[in-house]
Amino acid sequence: MSTADASLQAGHWLFAQGCEFVRGVAEIRDLPPISDRVEIAFAGRSNVGKSSLINALTRRKALARTSNTPGRTQELNFFHLAPQSDSGLWLVDMPGYGYARESKTKIEKWNRLLTAYLRGRANLRRVFLLVDSRHGLKANDLEMMDDLDRTAVVYQIVMTKVDKISGTAQEHLLEATAQQLRKRPAAYPDILLTSSEKGTGINLLQAEIAMLVDLEAIGYKGQS
Ligand code: GTP
Ligand code: MG
Repeated sequence: MSTADASLQAGHWLFAQGCEFVRGVAEIRDLPPISDRVEIAFAGRSNVGKSSLINALTRRKALARTSNTPGRTQELNFFHLAPQSDSGLWLVDMPGYGYARESKTKIEKWNRLLTAYLRGRANLRRVFLLVDSRHGLKANDLEMMDDLDRTAVVYQIVMTKVDKISGTAQEHLLEATAQQLRKRPAAYPDILLTSSEKGTGINLLQAEIAMLVDLEAIGYKGQS
């Protein structure tokens, strides 16, 4: 079996271990204590498809709440992947940014929570920064990337909704985005193309996540 096949298999196994919603956090003091459990977070503009991606990864229709209306996710939502094991992983669904209709007070409160979260989570292994493939990186994505570069949290771009654009447009998008990532110290160079609706790229993202954890500690016996 090739290394690529082995990591796809590991990713498939990991996401078949079940996933539970544990809590929504609106205040820093309510964050789960930092432990050695690996944490990964899904960030991006409002309506980009963060909650849908978590559902696609875990193959659950409504584990994370999705909506046509931007601003659906209002808290940092913590999901425990592989909860039967001693450790497992935290998947964190973040509220979207760039939702103009939110009140200024709420946006400021959210920004404080976000910044404190990103600065303070030692076990945050990677942020998946979701970008709508029809729009590419926007000003507030670049600001988010500046923050992550400053706090040295590794982030990887995941293009969403690729079912909405052509193959040629996907190639151009990849090229243009790769160019924008150059010289960004905390950016992970590989960009993933996904569609939660069609299932495109979901297995690759599962495999990518599986590479961030000690699978044997979760009970993975490897391929036979
Ligand atoms: P907030 O919580 O408001 O920040 O939004 P979110 O980023 O969690 O987005 P959500 O998953 O709620 O999806 C927003 C809308 O995009 C919904 O109407 C989804 O059905 C749609 N959507 C999500 N993923 C895809 C996709 O892969 N393809 C298409 N065509 N639509 C998608
Ligand atoms: Mg959401």
